[in-house]
Amino acid sequence: QFTPRVFSGIKPSGGLTLGNYLGAIKRFVDWQEAGTHETIYCVVDLHAITVWQDPAELHAATREVAAGFIASGIDPTKSVLFNQSQVSAHAELGWIFSCVARVGWMNRMTQFKDKAGANAEKVSLGLYAYPALMASDILLYHATHVPVGEDQKQHVELTRDIAQKFNHDYKVDFFPETRPVIEGPATRVMNLRDGTKKMSKSGESDMERINMTDDADTIAKKFKKAKTDPEPLPETMEGLEGRPEARNLVDIYAGLSGMTDEQVIAEYAGAGWGRFKPALADLAVEKLAPISTEMARLMDDPAEIDRILAHGAEQAREIANPILKRTYEIVGL
Ligand code: ADP
Ligand code: NA
Repeated sequence: QFTPRVFSGIKPSGGLTLGNYLGAIKRFVDWQEAGTHETIYCVVDLHAITVWQDPAELHAATREVAAGFIASGIDPTKSVLFNQSQVSAHAELGWIFSCVARVGWMNRMTQFKDKAGANAEKVSLGLYAYPALMASDILLYHATHVPVGEDQKQHVELTRDIAQKFNHDYKVDFFPETRPVIEGPATRVMNLRDGTKKMSKSGESDMERINMTDDADTIAKKFKKAKTDPEPLPETMEGLEGRPEARNLVDIYAGLSGMTDEQVIAEYAGAGWGRFKPALADLAVEKLAPISTEMARLMDDPAEIDRILAHGAEQAREIANPILKRTYEIVGL
């Protein structure tokens, strides 16, 4: 009944990290190249403003994420690539889903608790409600598969709950059951200072993350300084247990090389960090350097990026508007 369709997005809320690349963008390219599904990728700028964004920087960040997608291999002739705010149906369906989702469901979102912390009274209402908008991003295209990093699993599951409640309340079979796709290594890249905290665009220190636009020297320096325990790499996977920093670096190597964690351990069994870290840095530079060079080239021509995004928005509207229109009819609007 439903066209096999992939949807996913990235917030333009700062520079792209290696976590975004391995957990999201690289997988988006794989889905595009597999050719089994229609692929729709979005720069989710409406999500970015759930926390304060300087208007001029937001616009630049939107272009930079788009450039990151294209430089990594997202081909606007194969995938739909656009930014969320240009397709007003996202906000419209988002409101309807805010009326479907329950406050109790939102209260269970662990990412909100992490982000709001002790400050929950002072954060924006949008930050609290954003999973309802995310459900709209996905369901507006009747997307069946959503490739994301592990941190987004709960939100994609909430999307399924919203679709189910909508279908049940209105006695329709209109929105598909959506599933998160979280497969392979590096679905949760940790920061380089604390192997238990996610690498994030908005982490406290730049040394904690690898940015997609870092130059070779910076990448080498960051990996060299990455926190580890003093033990060499183990002979088997079990030897990584209780060693989050070591596991993280092995996982990053696996994600970048296309190997499994097991294969990386087999290749580097017993290696010390003095050998492994430079090898990891070389691999990261080999994979990221061509991407950052291409990103810089694309960023030199912002009008071209805007043209690509505008064309993508037209394609997105063609799919989204009929689905929104039908939703209005179902709801009685
Ligand atoms: P961030 O958390 O860096 O602000 P977003 O919220 O825009 O990024 O997430 C965009 C995509 O990147 C999501 O699919 C998310 O799961 C993925 N992602 C973000 N950080 C990581 C990470 N450290 N490891 C793996 N995937 C990640
Ligand atoms: Na995230």
